[in-house]
Amino acid sequence: MYRTNTCGELRAEHAGQTVTLAGWAHNFRTFGGVVFLVLRDRHGITQVVTKPESFSDAHQAIESARAEWVLQVEGVVRMRPSDQFNPKMATGEIELEARKVTVLNPSKATPIVVSRDEDENEEVRLKYRYLDLRRERMTRNMVLRHRVVKFMRDFMDKHGFIEIETPIMFKATPEGARDYLVPSRIHPGHFYALPQSPQQLKQLLMVAGMDKYFQIARCFRDEDLRGDRQPEFTQLDLEMSFVHRDDVLTLVESLYTEMIPAVAPNKKLLSSPWPKLSYREAVEKYGTDKPDLRFGMELVDASQIFAKSEFKVFQSALEAGGVVKCIVAPNAAEMSRREVDALTESAKALGAKGLATLALTAEGVKGTAAKFVTPDEAHALRTQTKAGEGDLILFAADARPVVNKVLGGLRVTLRDKLNLADKDMLAFAWVVDFPMFAWNEEEQRWDAEHHPFTMPQLADLDKFDSDPASILSDAYDMVCNGYEMASGSIRIHRRDIQNKIFQMLGHKDEDIQAKFGHMLEAFEYGAPPHGGMAPGIDRLVMLLADEPNIREVIAFPKNQNGRDVMADAPSEVEPKQLKELHIKIVE
Ligand code: AMO
Ligand code: AMP
Repeated sequence: MYRTNTCGELRAEHAGQTVTLAGWAHNFRTFGGVVFLVLRDRHGITQVVTKPESFSDAHQAIESARAEWVLQVEGVVRMRPSDQFNPKMATGEIELEARKVTVLNPSKATPIVVSRDEDENEEVRLKYRYLDLRRERMTRNMVLRHRVVKFMRDFMDKHGFIEIETPIMFKATPEGARDYLVPSRIHPGHFYALPQSPQQLKQLLMVAGMDKYFQIARCFRDEDLRGDRQPEFTQLDLEMSFVHRDDVLTLVESLYTEMIPAVAPNKKLLSSPWPKLSYREAVEKYGTDKPDLRFGMELVDASQIFAKSEFKVFQSALEAGGVVKCIVAPNAAEMSRREVDALTESAKALGAKGLATLALTAEGVKGTAAKFVTPDEAHALRTQTKAGEGDLILFAADARPVVNKVLGGLRVTLRDKLNLADKDMLAFAWVVDFPMFAWNEEEQRWDAEHHPFTMPQLADLDKFDSDPASILSDAYDMVCNGYEMASGSIRIHRRDIQNKIFQMLGHKDEDIQAKFGHMLEAFEYGAPPHGGMAPGIDRLVMLLADEPNIREVIAFPKNQNGRDVMADAPSEVEPKQLKELHIKIVE
């Protein structure tokens, strides 16, 4: 037997027992010849003591060991003197008096010090990920991730879902990113695509009568990476037959409402049931379709108030058909010139031409818009925004989408700067009634706002030719604290509507047949009405673990350039391999 207990297990009740532990040497301290070794495994840490005078072989073995050596220690559990209890250690009331120590494997000096939770260069952490993962923080994240996935599996099972695996080598499934391709050796010039999500497959499973499907599904997308985006990530992918939108939302909301107290008891849910906002409402009030609802600071439309404004900036925006909107930063009237300049720069980076401000100070109204705002306008503004003395009002005047984007972005900047959001709060919400299409300026055509399999709202079906921009879809997002956590929709199950959508998206008939023929054909063999969604697991665990990016909750993530720096991937391959795959590299 390598061990009788783990390093996180021993308590006062074990005192007097002879036990064997195995683990890594975490750190050493020496006091007058007595050596204190902290031994670590995934479960915790235990203090081991040896004295030169007793069990001298064991003592010598520990004295010659170094950090990260793998040791097996047999000994007797002793109570520590009560003044030496360590309340920060779960095993802090006891220590192990070593009698026999076996070196299972020595270690070179490690490039990162496992016992110190330093924020060294992330590249080093990623290169030596197997060392980084030994750290408590990372171990905790891995365990949390496991608990989340386990809870999801059990919950789905309890609600009558079955987990079905779908292929990784498949055909392009458009979700708006580029595909990763896998060349076929036996079919020269032909490629599989890795699924951006199992979207088509799960819909085909509904045609197959599987009724309630889920999968902990890996998705692959070649897109620009960000803190909350990896080229491969994991979804709880689910699909249901014979459901309306609210059947899906209710199920997922109850999953999260039950799961969070079970896996992250330190987190508070802001409200139950979760609020439901329309896409329009979200964008007009918060400037984004993924609002952070932990704090107020809603966007206020002040266009009416400034309809006759003398301020050129406001006048010209309104004359051009734009709007003047503002947000109120609480207790920020005394913000320094430099801070306001920095906010103005952020606003410009978001597309604004400038940022006008009104500071409601004890000495009166100040700020760049102060001399243009009449007392009547100021009064109306206070009434409409509920701003009071000490507050700073920030204005953007421009076309409506620009203004929403700018103030939505500033709202988040100010949240962090002024500490407006409680980090232990989770403000989940649903965003519904998305537009069906988004205009792609670059390619001068319509894109699907969610994906092409999303059902348009039936009331809007007659607007296809007259006003595609106004067509709403039966798509929905789950948002939390400013992140998009999940997306889904009721799907099209009729071939005629699906065909119409593909045409709207600019696919030619032969193209539709080549890319989606299998889907369209399936829809002619009795496809049931169906819908579903896909919550992102990485983003959820990131929020629950209070981590700043999803790399911290993925065992072996890619770095921000999409590289695995540990294994050095992607990498060149043998010419022979390329030849077999009928591939020539062109510089
Ligand atoms: P969507 O593309 O919106 O929908 O993705 C759903 C959720 O997956 C997560 N996610 C990501 N997480 C990490 N890195 C990424 N690159 C990444 N991309 C997406 C997000 C997102 O909300 N098939 C549809 C779902 C459906 O309609 O049922 C889909 O994949 O949390
Ligand atoms: P200007 O008239 O360009 O000197 O701008 C006067 C003030 O209005 C400055 O504080 C600008 O940053 C601000 N400003 C300029 N354009 C806009 C705009 N489109 N929206 C809001 N404020 C603006």
